[in-house]
Amino acid sequence: MHETHFGSPRSRVDGPLKVTGAAPYAGEFTAPDLAHGYVVSSAIAKGRITRIDTKDALAVPGVVQVFTHENRPRTAFRSNAYQDEVAPPGKPFRALYDETIVYSGQPVALVVAEDFEIARYAASLVRVTYEAEAHETDLEKVQAKAYVPPVKRQGISPPPKPRGDSEAAFGASPVTVEAGYRIAVEHHNPMEPHATTVVWEGDERITVHDKIQGAQNSQSYITAVFGLPQKDVRVVSPFIGGAFGSGLRPQYQLFLAVMAALELKRSVRVVLTRDQMFTMGYRPDGLQNVALGANQDATLQSIRHDLIANTSTFEDYQEATVNWSAMLYHCDNVTTTHKLAKTDLYTPADMRAPGAPTGLFAMESAMDELAHKLGVDPVTLRLRNYADIDESTNKYHTSKELRAAYQLGAERFGWSKRNPKPRSMKEGRELIGWGMASGAWEAQMAQTSARATLTADGRLEVACATADVGTGTYTILTQIAADALGLPMEKVTTKLGDSSLPKSPVEGGSWTAASAGSAVELACHKVRETLFKSARGLDHSPLANADIERVTFHGERIALVSDSSRFVTLADALKAAGVEKIEAEETASPSKLTQMRYNSFTHSAVFVEVRVDEELGQVRVTRIVDAVAAGRIINPKTARSQIMGGVVFGIGMALHEESMPDHNLGRFMNHNLAEYHVPVNADVHDIEVIFVEEHDTLTSPLGVKGLGEIGIVGTAAAIANAVFHATGKRIRELPITIDKVI
Ligand code: MOS
Repeated sequence: MHETHFGSPRSRVDGPLKVTGAAPYAGEFTAPDLAHGYVVSSAIAKGRITRIDTKDALAVPGVVQVFTHENRPRTAFRSNAYQDEVAPPGKPFRALYDETIVYSGQPVALVVAEDFEIARYAASLVRVTYEAEAHETDLEKVQAKAYVPPVKRQGISPPPKPRGDSEAAFGASPVTVEAGYRIAVEHHNPMEPHATTVVWEGDERITVHDKIQGAQNSQSYITAVFGLPQKDVRVVSPFIGGAFGSGLRPQYQLFLAVMAALELKRSVRVVLTRDQMFTMGYRPDGLQNVALGANQDATLQSIRHDLIANTSTFEDYQEATVNWSAMLYHCDNVTTTHKLAKTDLYTPADMRAPGAPTGLFAMESAMDELAHKLGVDPVTLRLRNYADIDESTNKYHTSKELRAAYQLGAERFGWSKRNPKPRSMKEGRELIGWGMASGAWEAQMAQTSARATLTADGRLEVACATADVGTGTYTILTQIAADALGLPMEKVTTKLGDSSLPKSPVEGGSWTAASAGSAVELACHKVRETLFKSARGLDHSPLANADIERVTFHGERIALVSDSSRFVTLADALKAAGVEKIEAEETASPSKLTQMRYNSFTHSAVFVEVRVDEELGQVRVTRIVDAVAAGRIINPKTARSQIMGGVVFGIGMALHEESMPDHNLGRFMNHNLAEYHVPVNADVHDIEVIFVEEHDTLTSPLGVKGLGEIGIVGTAAAIANAVFHATGKRIRELPITIDKVI
């Protein structure tokens, strides 16, 4: 057997392009006669524009036009035309639609000029007069008006129905814990800002370079909103500079850039500033309450997890936050609730593993509190309450190696050496704490198509509309394709991020490896079959009596397994077929039967060491072991990077990231990377990733479950638990900043 690329560590095929600056991003594409748009943002959170004076702006030499709600061209008037593939229920925001202001930072004008600096300067001259109304951005003030969203968001499971009687069981439990938890609002802050460059191709045709996790999502959005035929709108976004969910939905700069380009009949670029990015979607605010009841033998008797999360006034943003508490452990009495309350902020957005790290911060902190009260080891408590099936839906798991993750993670970490007593481990002036938590995330496959094209020079191209948001999709698809035809990876080109390519959902939800990967494999296998048939059909073919199971594809040869000297070259096989190339397009779909009978999740066990200097209130995360069960791993190198990135994100959630609202003004005040802290190299020490062996034949044909998101889940909880172990202080509001530690 030849070594397969599948399962082997491979460097990113797009790495050289990225590190040399040769990979173009949405705001870098250019065109002759490119005009630049700059957005003017609302200074109030709620009310209406009474007057908008653009005279001074228009007078600046080089200004082409200033668009406002008063002169914006007519576009689709139905709000549902603005719905996109992943929009929550409600009425999507429409930029420059009318004089109404529904959140601070809402775009109120677009200044278009010959260059960026002129546009930015002229934007400062647009005078907007408002009539402000009282706004409310404080979730605590509106929680009494919380409601269960009347319409379920597509693809998001609402909390499962209660089982048993959690209230009675809680009352009867000899050992209980109950507390409120909260994490700060977080903004995604990818390196690449929201940006769109619209290239005017003439005849009402446009090519759009958009910062988006799904080119076809932007394409259908534009065609619906502007009433354009699909053939006239091509969205091309080959590279994404990080997104974490912020690029799932088309953002207003896309609308504005397309509107301006169509109106001016020229190419237009609109790039948002970092501070404007703090007026976009965010990980929602939420007030969580967890109550657990257990017997003295550490068996859970009752679980209750309630959440009130904020949403905007116009959309009901939903994510699976409390559901994890109902499926992770064996327990007969469970109630979970998830309500929304409207605030005068923009709609929250999916952010890496939306819901899971939030909900599991509360649940896994509560489990730690319970372990402490019971006097049992936190890992023991989890193993004692291990759920073999998903009791919240009564479905089997397609696979679940969480037990092995606990065991392997604990072993590697050296967990058995932990002194359970808080404040018992010390070195110099630093208190040392060891904490752990469980993580879970959905393992999904979504219907996706791909095309494979083999040419006589032995080159294979695979293509799919999905995006590579920096996760390594180019690389893993290249590996899968190369294996299918026994080619070196250098012979394979993968094309992504183009609405004209075979259909794909947005890249998100950790489903892309399983979905696009399966589609690419199907298409390549189709090519392989066609190729084999023509090789066998060759005059005097050495493969005349063979079947496809008895040949290998390797080194541009199709050879008998039993005798590799009997072979047909790829070029001869193509020649025999009388074609220049063999092409196949295939669609991979998840199994309906599997979906009916099973649930599929990835799992993790996170072990953390923190060192706390109590005098300075400083917390350092000095060691993390994350043991992950995510099915087959296509590329251990890019997979490890994904988990590391998620873990670092979790460190940010635990210690740094906090969008600070000023409720008087109704906006986030720390809207830049100087004041909104993300982890930097100095915050990141030793992170070890373990992939637990997990055999899964049901989630996807590849055995892949996906791992773009699981790395963040559980990390913040494990850190908070470690801080408790170090200091004896239970901090239930993230981030754990100095003031909370001292
Ligand atoms: Mo992810 S939050 O589905 O990009």
